[in-house]
Amino acid sequence: MAVERTLSIIKPDATARNQTGAVNALIEKTGLRIIAQKRVRWSKAQAEKFYEVHKARPFYSDLVGFMTSGPIVVQVLEGENAIQVYRDVMGATDPAKAAPGTIRRELAESIERNSVHGSDSAANAAIEIALNFKPEEIVG
Ligand code: CMP
Repeated sequence: MAVERTLSIIKPDATARNQTGAVNALIEKTGLRIIAQKRVRWSKAQAEKFYEVHKARPFYSDLVGFMTSGPIVVQVLEGENAIQVYRDVMGATDPAKAAPGTIRRELAESIERNSVHGSDSAANAAIEIALNFKPEEIVG
């Protein structure tokens, strides 16, 4: 296995409920390191670009509206097998289907307001990290 990096986003539903620390505790419990982190508010253009792959989906415009509705925390996580490790601790997209102990099961509200995002592949992780961070903001 290789050391990987993945992009994590703590979404507006979680920042609104003061759950940034709760999410970070579950991340750090896996052994992944948070090697970059900043609280930002995305513009509509940034959200549209980030979720471009979902453009044809019926939930796209609601998703862009939700992701720009409040502050988010963007993070780079690093560790062995980081992409899969983070996806496992996030749990299923729909919190109702997520396993107990996962971030979405414990903290999320609904399939859209599902508290966190994590990259789904190494190629997408590289793209998503580059969209959100300058190299010097990442301190591994
Ligand atoms: P995320 O992992 O950020 O990737 C795409 C997002 O779209 C997903 O989390 C959810 O927030 C949202 N999403 C996915 N499926 C649906 C759906 N069926 N209805 C509404 N939102 C969805």
